[in-house]
Amino acid sequence: MSTQLFQTKCLSALDPQEEKQAFAQAARLIQAGEVVGFPTETVYGLGADATNPQAVAKIFAAKGRPQDNPLIVHICDIQMLEQVASSVPAEAYALFHAFWPGPLTVILPRGEAIPQEVSAGLDTVAVRFPAHEVAKKMICYAGVPVAAPSANRSGSPSPTTAAHVLADLNGRVPLVLDGGPAACGVESTVVTLCTNTPRLLRPGFVTVEELEAVLGKVEVDDGVLHQIGQNQVVASPGMKYQHYAPKAALTLLCGNHTPQQMQEIALQQGFDGLLVFEEDSPQCTMPHLTFGAKSAPQAQAASLFDALRALDDKGFQKVLCRMPAPQGVGLAVVNRLLRAAAFRVIQ
Ligand code: TXA
Ligand code: MG
Repeated sequence: MSTQLFQTKCLSALDPQEEKQAFAQAARLIQAGEVVGFPTETVYGLGADATNPQAVAKIFAAKGRPQDNPLIVHICDIQMLEQVASSVPAEAYALFHAFWPGPLTVILPRGEAIPQEVSAGLDTVAVRFPAHEVAKKMICYAGVPVAAPSANRSGSPSPTTAAHVLADLNGRVPLVLDGGPAACGVESTVVTLCTNTPRLLRPGFVTVEELEAVLGKVEVDDGVLHQIGQNQVVASPGMKYQHYAPKAALTLLCGNHTPQQMQEIALQQGFDGLLVFEEDSPQCTMPHLTFGAKSAPQAQAASLFDALRALDDKGFQKVLCRMPAPQGVGLAVVNRLLRAAAFRVIQ
């Protein structure tokens, strides 16, 4: 299979006829049970018709994804929400009005329209209404809810550009829509409304504080900042897998070390590269990459996955990385870094 790439970067500058063609082609493929790579504001997704179990199976095959890791269903209006969930509580409508379209996924009771393959046998479904114009248009053109995980090979960092998608999936999917670099850079916040108290399963751009302003108390699942044991029952199966990992072995450094102190530790312990905050860079003499400023968690999130991929492009083997503060969007950055580092931390 050869992968076709459609540039939809500047939607408004695109010839309306050409634009129509790109979306019509994506919609045809989805309706025919194929998979399509597409941009969202968080990361790129790999989409298929969420109501078609054979199409959904192709997502798992293309990614090499474990069968017990459920997918998020992407919608483009409130009718689709009511189609994919068997019931929609008042809290879900409140979240819809506060954050959708946007980088939030809500777990609800699964509706009959969604086969169990999507949810890996769970009786719940993860629902998200993305904000990216290309994503919204593609779902509307397809006319069906779109199941989509991040468009990377399972285990590698999520893709934030069409080039990342092609690096992982070229030849394994028929079409990728290019919508430019993803604005958020980390996957959506996942919150479940299927527990007594709403519970955060994965942190993202929508923060715990923002959720609590709408929902009242929100519990943070243990898996957000702690390693899940192999045999432990998990609320969100995706949390037990090693994720986002570059080939280089990453270790996180806690505390307020100066760049010089960090380098000393790195040299003593045989690290060959650093991943540091932007302001550290001028004082680092050993090879390094940066991932945003210390006080700018949104910028860290936006550049994180690209930086993790770049570590491998540079050929680093053993990398020491700054640990950001786990507040606000920083909680999402720390959550991804801990998994990328397989929870290796120097206190
Ligand atoms: O931003 C995003 O959410 C991106 C874009 C493409 O929308 N998608 C994404 O999908 O990150 P994925 O498959 O990489 O992550 C989905 C996460 C996994 O951790 C999975 O276990 C969890 O959501 N999940 C999906 N359905 C669930 C369910 N019914 N109950 C609990 N967790 C669920
Ligand atoms: Mg993923």
